[in-house]
Amino acid sequence: MAETMRILMCAPTFFEVSYVINPWMTGHVHDTSRERSQRQWDALRDTVSRHADVVQQPPAEGWPDMTFTANAGLVFGNTFVPSRFRYAERQGEEPHDRAWFERHGFDIVELPGDVFFEGAGDALFDRGVARRLWMGHGHRSDPAAAPALARLLDVEVLPLKLADPRFYHLDTCFCPLADGYTLYFPAAFDAAALASIEQHVPPGQRIVVDEHDALDFACNAVNLGRVVILNRASAGLRSRLEGAGFMVIEVALDEFMKSGGAAKCLTLKLDEAAGA
Ligand code: ARG
Repeated sequence: MAETMRILMCAPTFFEVSYVINPWMTGHVHDTSRERSQRQWDALRDTVSRHADVVQQPPAEGWPDMTFTANAGLVFGNTFVPSRFRYAERQGEEPHDRAWFERHGFDIVELPGDVFFEGAGDALFDRGVARRLWMGHGHRSDPAAAPALARLLDVEVLPLKLADPRFYHLDTCFCPLADGYTLYFPAAFDAAALASIEQHVPPGQRIVVDEHDALDFACNAVNLGRVVILNRASAGLRSRLEGAGFMVIEVALDEFMKSGGAAKCLTLKLDEAAGA
């Protein structure tokens, strides 16, 4: 890509765990530190800034999960498909996100009104095959979002059913990387989803993550060219990624893991070229 990738981030000014909508949040209500989360987020922003342009969305008080910009919606070219959150706890983020994307010149394209969809948390473009979108469902997004997105964006959508509640968004267990490499945790998927991954990703490009790395949110990675930014990777995973030509950068994000998110969830690519 000729220009530097823009990445949307939203400061964790109002971040906390104040409800439980995924298993990671259990036991962590009011257990996060503002200072520590700000420090970890600053480190992620600084790291991402060395490889992309970070654009900041102003946080809104009362919406503690808004810092997870991956869930704002799905960007494709100049089109923005806003999320429709499953839980009321996050639905109040929707007007803030829509307003931001409208203000920044995106064309807003709506899903049918009765379909839940949690944006780039559950919808990830393949980095090897153009116009191929992987879409997770089973916890947050509805399977009906898949044909709807295919129609709205004129892309191929490969639905993947998620089967483990700890991996409730696709980006917690699956990460398309440059040149078609794919980082994923197989046990998070049902049998049909796994078969689809194996059918579409050649063996030499599959980077299978074990449970230990998956629980460290290794699949929740930000890939910018040859750089992979993630919370933590075991020595084994790091060397496999390096063997595939990637440079691994760890940024500790444990404060956000109490809410069920890490590096990828805290970012949203604003340049998702239709065709790249
Ligand atoms: N607490 C948030 C939720 O459960 C975390 C979202 C993480 N985002 C993601 N893209 N996986 O909705």
